[in-house]
Amino acid sequence: MSMRRAVAAATGVLLGVSGLSFIATPAQAASQQKKADSAPITVAHRGASGYAPENTLSAVEKADKLGMDWVENDVQRTKDGELVVMHDTTLARTTNVEKLYPERSPWNISDFTAKEIKRLDAGSWFSDDYAGEKVPTLEQYLKKITKTGQRLLLELKSPEIYPGIELQTLRELSSHGWLDSKHTKSKLIIQSFNADSVKTTHFLNSAVKTGFLGNPKVSELDSYAKFTDQINPTHSAATKDYIKAVHARKGPLGKQMEVFTWTVNDASTARTVDKAGVDGIISNFPDVVRDATGG
Ligand code: G3P
Ligand code: CA
Repeated sequence: MSMRRAVAAATGVLLGVSGLSFIATPAQAASQQKKADSAPITVAHRGASGYAPENTLSAVEKADKLGMDWVENDVQRTKDGELVVMHDTTLARTTNVEKLYPERSPWNISDFTAKEIKRLDAGSWFSDDYAGEKVPTLEQYLKKITKTGQRLLLELKSPEIYPGIELQTLRELSSHGWLDSKHTKSKLIIQSFNADSVKTTHFLNSAVKTGFLGNPKVSELDSYAKFTDQINPTHSAATKDYIKAVHARKGPLGKQMEVFTWTVNDASTARTVDKAGVDGIISNFPDVVRDATGG
């Protein structure tokens, strides 16, 4: 170790700037740390989906390589009752289902068995580099992020199509150790666009942190505060006044309600929503957001 690096290790840290690095004084390091501590959480949307096919294990790996602690995913159910990780309610856009099963239009997830879905290629649509990537089951996904140590913002996608998916998801989470207090306190949030589904999740397990995707009127926030800990709007709705109104309320876990906004893919919007006071930013390019906000 060079003398300068040895001194840096003892008295400060190395800070990366435009691919270079310089040695920070303890004061600079402390200020950088303060900025990082107060920055919003960055969440890798559908994994790091700007860099790898969304909702796949490769997207999780990419997020991990970028140093992303939080990943978001979408959960749905197959015809024979397996929970799988996918955004659209049909398999058409992100797999080769039309080629393999040309007669099965409109290729709804709920019309295919887990075995059939296992045959699909969920990577080639994104890039040849990901040919052969599979649609993960929730079980495979949980095993993966348990290994990487990442945290999960899990979205129940279109739960109205899948009666009972809240209980089934909670059971699956539980069987992989994701409902112990370590996880419910800091590693798991369950969100949905469907308020009834968020409500059901909360009443089935009141220790789980929940989020509602949308921006209910300020006059409705008190009723949402009974069952959701987060209000998660699109970035255009994440204004300073709206965030202030959300923050003025406590959620069912007894803590200040939070705002995680989506989908922010550029530095300028990231800085705007950070300034407005969001608690989390969900992004396909999470490294861009983290670098812009100092997280
Ligand atoms: O987590 C927020 C975001 O995922 C909601 O929109 O359509 O990407 O699932 P969508
Ligand atoms: Ca989602």
